[in-house]
Amino acid sequence: MDKTEETIATPNFIGLLLEVEQDALAAIASGEKPVDQLRIELLGGKSELAKLTKQIRLVPPVDRAQVGTVLNQVKEKIKDALVKNQKTSVNTGKSAEEIDVTAPGILPPVGHLHIVTQGINEITRIFERIGFTRVRHPEVDWDWYAFESLNMPPNHPARDEWETFFIDFPGSPSKDHKKKRIVLIPHTSNGQVREMEKGKLPIRMINIAKCYRRQSDVSHVPMFHQFEGLYVDKNVSIAHLKGVLDYFVKQFFGPQRQARIRPFHFQFTEPSFEVDITCGVCLGKGCKLCKEGWLELGGAGMVHPVVLKNGGIDPDAYTGFAFGWGVERTAMMKSNTQLDDIRLLYSNDVRFLEQF
Ligand code: PHE
Repeated sequence: MDKTEETIATPNFIGLLLEVEQDALAAIASGEKPVDQLRIELLGGKSELAKLTKQIRLVPPVDRAQVGTVLNQVKEKIKDALVKNQKTSVNTGKSAEEIDVTAPGILPPVGHLHIVTQGINEITRIFERIGFTRVRHPEVDWDWYAFESLNMPPNHPARDEWETFFIDFPGSPSKDHKKKRIVLIPHTSNGQVREMEKGKLPIRMINIAKCYRRQSDVSHVPMFHQFEGLYVDKNVSIAHLKGVLDYFVKQFFGPQRQARIRPFHFQFTEPSFEVDITCGVCLGKGCKLCKEGWLELGGAGMVHPVVLKNGGIDPDAYTGFAFGWGVERTAMMKSNTQLDDIRLLYSNDVRFLEQF
């Protein structure tokens, strides 16, 4: 070793160390080489840093401690950068060899059916078990099926209950008295006469469809779902209606719940009823939620003779019952949830929908 090699001025030595540091950090950040390879190149026995470590003895003895500290700092910075880079390349999946296959995976989010779809499926299954068949009828239908055939002639005041969307259609009015005006169905009762027109008896129908009314507030949405039951046969009585209601309520809401029918009025049933079920919280005793112990489910009644006639059925030979309830309301009553705003059901906020 000659004389010139024997000493390196302290500032120069530190300058070399900082250069090594800069180059190393740049190489790590570029991501061009795998981290494991860089670790060997930058910190291994043949690295620049290793060479400088050996040359520390060429620094004047009084400065060696200071230079040693700088050297260790450089080494730590390079090590840190290598570790950080390894983590990010696993997350981004940059290169297959950097992936830690033993790390726990990220679970993909798994969805479930919307509460209304769950309700429709369950309601269908319950009625199918006692011989009802789910059918589909038009959701955009003639006024005749939605109103007139149901004993509600044009301008009848009872129509006010169903705030209806009417559809304009071009062309001259049809001569067929059943094809005068088109509506978005405001209830599933349009399926009653349509089902009778199929000409097959007895009828055991469950008709579930979207319904539309001009309404939107915390307890109403312009589009909602109803399920309509219709049973027409010889000697069908109110006792059959009550039996089917009790069966449904116990199957859907649970064995402790009870149903009652209360006199009401509909143009298309006689007599008509409203159906209530006992509250799921107090089971009929009365609580803050329900006040009187009962919650209203929807309408029902014995099919009006005029409706049977409009469907081509002899009301002297046949009788029947019908009921029509909202799916949303029924499904929410099952979950015992008080919804502040029913419109939440259709706002597509997963955080809300996940709960059901
Ligand atoms: N269609 C009625 C409504 O929308 C409910 C109903 C159906 C009542 C069948 C009686 C019989 O309110």
